[in-house]
Amino acid sequence: LALNGLLLVSAYLLGSMPPGYWAGRLLKGIDIREHGSGSTGATNVLRTVGKAPALVVLLVDILKGAVAIAAVRWCYTVAEAQSLPLPTLDVAVWLPWMVTLVGMAALLGHSKSIFLGFTGGKSVATSLGVLLAMNWMVGAGTLAVFALVLAISRIVSLSSIAGAIAVSGFMMFTHQPLPYLLFGLLGGLYVILRHRANIQRLLAGSEPRLGQPVPNAT
Ligand code: G3P
Repeated sequence: LALNGLLLVSAYLLGSMPPGYWAGRLLKGIDIREHGSGSTGATNVLRTVGKAPALVVLLVDILKGAVAIAAVRWCYTVAEAQSLPLPTLDVAVWLPWMVTLVGMAALLGHSKSIFLGFTGGKSVATSLGVLLAMNWMVGAGTLAVFALVLAISRIVSLSSIAGAIAVSGFMMFTHQPLPYLLFGLLGGLYVILRHRANIQRLLAGSEPRLGQPVPNAT
C-alpha cells in the first residue's frame, strides 16, 4: 500500500512539473498563464514563446506521462521479483489499476500543478505519454486522429478533443482491460472538460489556428 501511495504522489509531482511555465519565465520573463490561452501547454508556448521551446515542452510533457507509467511497471516488477508484500501480490490484477490511477494522477498534476497554485495545462501531451506507455497501439491511433484533425483544421484544441473522444474507441477496439478502458473514458472526459474555454471559442468561431493569438485574451 505504501508503494502504491508513493507511486501516486510521485506521478502527481512529476505531472506537476511545468516546463511550459519555465519556458515563459526563462526565455521571455513572462508568466505564460497571463498570456494567450493562459495554459502552460506546448500550444500556448508556441503562441507566446516560440517554436523550439514549444517542441521541447511538448516532448517533456509527453515524457512525464510515459515515465510515470514506466515507473509503476518497473516498481511492480522489482517488488514481485523480491516477493515484497504487494497487496495480495496479485500483480496481474493490481498493475493495470495502478497504471490507470497513476496515469490520472499525472494528468491531474499537469493541469493542477502544486508548483503553480493548482493551475497548469490541459493535459493533452501528458495523456498521450500515458497512452503510449499503456498501450502503444492505442497511443498511436489517438495521435493519428489528433494529427489528421490538426492537418485539416489547423486548430489544436479541436484536434485534442477529437483525440480525447477517439481514445475510448481505440481502447474497446483493441480489447484493453477494464482499468485502461476507464482511463480512456475518464481521462478523455477530463481533457475535454479542460477545454471548456476552447469549446466556447470554437462555437463562437473565434478559436485561433495553430500559432495564432487568442482573441480577447489577457
Ligand atoms: O494542448 C492544449 C490544446 O488542445 C489547446 O491549447 O493553448 O489553444 O488552449 P490552447
